Amino acid sequence: MEFKNVLLEKEERIAILTINRPKALNALNKDTLLEIKAAVEEVRDDNDIYVLIITGAGGKAFVAGADITYMLEMNAQEGREFGLLGQEVFRLIESIEKPVIAAIDGFALGGGCELAMACDFRICSDKSKFGQPEVGLAVTPGFGGTQRLPRIVGTGMAKQLLYTGDVIDADEALRIGLVNYVVDDLMDYVKKLARKIASRGQVAVRYCKVAVNDGMQTDIDRAMTIEADLFGLCFATDDQKEGMKAFVEKRKAEFIGK
Ligand code: CAA
Repeated sequence: MEFKNVLLEKEERIAILTINRPKALNALNKDTLLEIKAAVEEVRDDNDIYVLIITGAGGKAFVAGADITYMLEMNAQEGREFGLLGQEVFRLIESIEKPVIAAIDGFALGGGCELAMACDFRICSDKSKFGQPEVGLAVTPGFGGTQRLPRIVGTGMAKQLLYTGDVIDADEALRIGLVNYVVDDLMDYVKKLARKIASRGQVAVRYCKVAVNDGMQTDIDRAMTIEADLFGLCFATDDQKEGMKAFVEKRKAEFIGK
């Protein structure tokens, strides 16, 4: 697919997906969602890529939401379908077996906050702002915000943000656990982090994602079984042999990603 609204760059083991509609503060219309989907599928299927970073172009916004102009004339059926498309694309991001980091520099509002929350974790610059301002437009969040926000920050804080539509700054996002770190030199920091993750045993990294995601959706006993199964499967990899052998031989492990 030829991309018009996103950029997909690859640097060694890292892919960087940039939402690229800076004039509309990277707002998400249907075409942009479909391009994100195609780009994430490409990353998922590219065995040379270990980690995906998602960011926004223009230095002002990560993503300022679903495209309000695009939604203006929608009826109930069209609204539902647009919501389902956003949910499908963000669920894909959440469920690909590769780490996905949101690098946020500016507004992450509505669908933008929802996109960030579908990533494994969020790192932002100090000028970033977060919120689910949808009630101010008289709609609910539609791309997973009512479900992921309470899972990340707890139901009480999520409900306050959802009901008020308040926009919070980076320090408040850090305080409530919506972002992991507020940093200077955002892309340098996130790329370094991505390279560190890419240097680890990749099957183990992927299994960590699966274990957390699947385990958090079920009861603790079933979750422990999920962990035991994945832990066991690691011992069927070349990297496990190399990782433990390298430790015993006091040298740096050379992983091959399987
Ligand atoms: N959709 C469409 N266009 C948008 C947009 C959006 N979500 N956000 C910003 N833009 C456009 C503006 O219309 C403007 O375009 P023009 O230059 O053609 O007028 C351009 O981006 C720049 O924006 P502003 O002039 O408004 O910039 P600002 O610095 O004054 O304000 C802002 C920045 C506070 C982020 C403001 O743009 C804003 O409030 N945006 C909307 C945020 C929002 O409500 N998001 C939720 C959308 S609904 C949703 O996401 C539903 C869902 O869950 C699926």
